[in-house]
Amino acid sequence: MNIEVSSRRRVSTLLPDFPWDTIADAKAKAAAYPGGLADLSVGTPVDPVDPLIRAALNSVAEVPGYPTTHGTPELRSAAAQALRRRYGVTGVDPAAVLPVIGTKELIAGLPRLLGLDATDLVVIPEVAYPTYEVGALLGGTRIARADGLAQLGPVSPALIFLNSPANPTGKVLGVEHLRKVVSFARERGTIVVADECYLGLTWEGSAPSLLDPRVCDGDHTNLLVVHSLSKTSNLASYRAGFVTGDPELVAELLEVRKHSGMMVPLPIQAAMTAALGDDEHEARQRERYRARRDILRTALTAAGFRIDNSEAGLYLWCTRDEPCRTTLDWLADRGILAAPGDFYGPAGSKHVRIALTATDERVAAAAERLTRRT
Ligand SMILES: Cc1ncc(COP(=O)(O)O)c(C=O)c1O
Repeated sequence: MNIEVSSRRRVSTLLPDFPWDTIADAKAKAAAYPGGLADLSVGTPVDPVDPLIRAALNSVAEVPGYPTTHGTPELRSAAAQALRRRYGVTGVDPAAVLPVIGTKELIAGLPRLLGLDATDLVVIPEVAYPTYEVGALLGGTRIARADGLAQLGPVSPALIFLNSPANPTGKVLGVEHLRKVVSFARERGTIVVADECYLGLTWEGSAPSLLDPRVCDGDHTNLLVVHSLSKTSNLASYRAGFVTGDPELVAELLEVRKHSGMMVPLPIQAAMTAALGDDEHEARQRERYRARRDILRTALTAAGFRIDNSEAGLYLWCTRDEPCRTTLDWLADRGILAAPGDFYGPAGSKHVRIALTATDERVAAAAERLTRRT
């Protein structure tokens, strides 16, 4: 009997190759260094989850029922209050807060959840966290990389992804820049989605939210902000984030997510509520990163690197004005693993991204290797 070969489309073929496989050799070389690997390639937290958050997680561990997709009222109110207290964001109705299972999940699904298709254009930053492109590819939209509105010409994009402070560059978009994007979006009916997972990690100057009243004049129409607790509260393992902004867009997302079972587990909702209600653990973590940043910045500069942008966020965006894979090898010879800039778009091909998310001991080891006279 002939079995017909399925002609179904493999969704994975729409997506780029998983780039981390391409640094396996550099990783193996760096790991062979005496004293072991100093892995500064990924932005994963290494400091323990605060006891206050762990207690909140445990406090509902016995509850057996389904959580709601919309999240508990306590969680939504804690998110709205944290936005006001930490970032001066006003006018967020807790009903317009929607918890997500980590923000990567939301970003990768957003163009599709919002009903975009091949007729729509999604704009992502020139050098960007890869999931914006993935979201657009999964939604089957057209994609343009642009940092400035002038680059776009007369088109009316369906959606613009912003990321300030940015991964990987640490670049911050100021009030004036964001105001221009909002006014452009209002003229053309574009949805603006600001991924603000590094907003609480600013080292030089300050970083405004897209929902800051100085940016949007208190009008959230067609604007969404995405906040992750992974970095600021060390909750990457919990998968904890939320989206808020335009109440109509959030209501639409809620409706679709309800039908798809995209619920944040209740213990995580309780942990998020505690984390959003407490600024002290966040401030302590920020100071840990500030100290690591100072050490790495000094060592990289002494080793001849130039550090561009990096005024906020969890990375140093560095260059030796050579192809990033050459720099990757140079670092691997010293037992250090970085992320090559070409992971984030062609414009990143002469930079490497150095993460601040390693233990104090590994950061000290990396700094010593960078400054050692050989
Ligand atoms: C810019 C940016 N957005 C979103 C995320 C995803 O965070 P989450 O852990 O909430 O999925 C990351 C993680 O590195 C990131 O760098």
